[in-house]
Amino acid sequence: MPKITFIDVDGTSYDAMVDAGLSLMEGAINVGVPGVLAICGGSCACSTCHGYIDDAWVALVGGPNDIEDATLELANERRAGSRLTCQVQVTAAMDGLVVHVAKND
Ligand code: FES
Repeated sequence: MPKITFIDVDGTSYDAMVDAGLSLMEGAINVGVPGVLAICGGSCACSTCHGYIDDAWVALVGGPNDIEDATLELANERRAGSRLTCQVQVTAAMDGLVVHVAKND
């Protein structure tokens, strides 16, 4: 089961063991990562699950599709590694992935 590390806006790390097939957002919610609000419940409509894929992992995770890209325009401080964590499906290859939670308020 892939281990995903989430780092909140205060720099605190949270390790989550996330089943492949779940979203990063679901993995974060399951361990109570602060700042992953996910107000729309994962339907790519709110941007409050915004996070930054660590630079070392951006190539593997990939970028957003057109629908996610449009919703990301609503997010605070969009950067090169920005993704909506509800739209990233965890795979076995993501074991060790680091995600920095964005300021989602
Ligand atoms: S939970 Fe709303 S866009 Fe991800």
